[in-house]
Amino acid sequence: MEAAAPDRYLVDPIEVASRGEIETLQFKRLRWSLSHAYKNVPHYRQKFDEAGVHPDDLKELSDLARFPFTVKEDLRNNYPFGMFAVPRTEVARVHASSGTTGKPTVVGYTQKDIETWADLMARSMVAAGAKPGDIVHVAYGYGLFTGGLGAHYGAERLGCTVIPMSGGQTEKQVQLIQDFKPDIIMVTPSYLLAIADEFERQGLDPRDSSLRIGMHGAEPWTEKMRQEIEQRFDMHAIDIYGLSEIIGPGVSCECIETKDGLHIWEDHFYPEVIDPETGEILPDGEMGELVFTSLTKEAFPIVRYRTRDLTRLLPGTARSMRRMEKVTGRTDDMLIIRGVNVFPSQIEEMILKDERLSPHYVLEIKREGQLDALDVFVEIKPQHAGEITSLANPCAQSLKHNIKSLVGVSTDVHIMSVGDVARSMGKAQRVIDKRH
Ligand code: DLL
Repeated sequence: MEAAAPDRYLVDPIEVASRGEIETLQFKRLRWSLSHAYKNVPHYRQKFDEAGVHPDDLKELSDLARFPFTVKEDLRNNYPFGMFAVPRTEVARVHASSGTTGKPTVVGYTQKDIETWADLMARSMVAAGAKPGDIVHVAYGYGLFTGGLGAHYGAERLGCTVIPMSGGQTEKQVQLIQDFKPDIIMVTPSYLLAIADEFERQGLDPRDSSLRIGMHGAEPWTEKMRQEIEQRFDMHAIDIYGLSEIIGPGVSCECIETKDGLHIWEDHFYPEVIDPETGEILPDGEMGELVFTSLTKEAFPIVRYRTRDLTRLLPGTARSMRRMEKVTGRTDDMLIIRGVNVFPSQIEEMILKDERLSPHYVLEIKREGQLDALDVFVEIKPQHAGEITSLANPCAQSLKHNIKSLVGVSTDVHIMSVGDVARSMGKAQRVIDKRH
């Protein structure tokens, strides 16, 4: 793998500005954003009034703590366009994410918001080691999901050649990677692994492909998964984070120099980490729920949005903007199995410790009497497929043992043949809840 630090001229000066400069800009923008939301979105006016706060009460950044949180439910209650702060005719585009209940969450962008988003995606790509002229294969889904179009506009903004492949048609993904020789692939980590399998099925080694950098996000993935990807493709695997409510991908991104957490683009999004139980703000370094306030968005300003993602804020490294630790769990994907809290990512770590097991897995929770039980279904690696009868039992026993001793829960482990766990073409569904 070739190490590649981004060319200095491509780094925006604010990314490496002093903390004082960043905070001055944040304060100015935050005042604007709060008053824009208050003036133009009835929901915010009502919530601020009820909480007895006014945008003018913001005298310093920490005063944001006096303003109310926004939750997904608020967006649903204002479905579809009730949270927009500009006339509908100024909304250039909408995106939406499907929720567990019927109604999707709808977000909107003015033309200027789309420009900002493209700039921030281009900035993320530079941080990841991309440069103008690179060929970028986009395998995030295009459509209402923000992944495909977000990546697409960012790559165009940077001056790359974009291949808008979208998700699915895995054989064709491999063909185009072979023929078009992209430098960069943008795709969920789970779908990248399905593409890797397809390479191997066709007798090709992904390590021989032209890919230099992968930008992966939209779902949690562990350090172990990064090692697996980097090793299988002989490329850098960079974590990129975002959510539609805040803008889409490009809220934060790792940089190739350090790969140790994601720089939050703090000139556009103000982060806080709170205790998910009490709502109290936690100091940098402490683990809690990530909350964002948009600083520049016109169509869909968002104030103290509770993301449900768990992380901690860390100081800047190669850039002065603060980092967030890799998100490996959400408040709502925590499983409670017989009183023990478990995140799917903890199970993933255990699976990937065993070199005989593949990263294709699914967890099933069911009810046994009064108690919850967890079944782990995981595939054997293709190179061990022939030995599944002899390996199934020892692999299952050792995984069960590791999960019990290191995560603390009892599980039933099922070793599956190659191809028996459903592949994702976008975000992987890691948990099937059969309790209801
Ligand atoms: O997943 C935006 C995106 C697209 C990000 C492509 C990165 C790459 P939503 O569909 O609204 O938006 O889902 C947002 O996905 O709250 C996290 O729980 C999860 N998520 C996104 N990126 C990461 C990541 C897009 N790098 C939700 N690591 C977020 C862990 C992630 N979880």
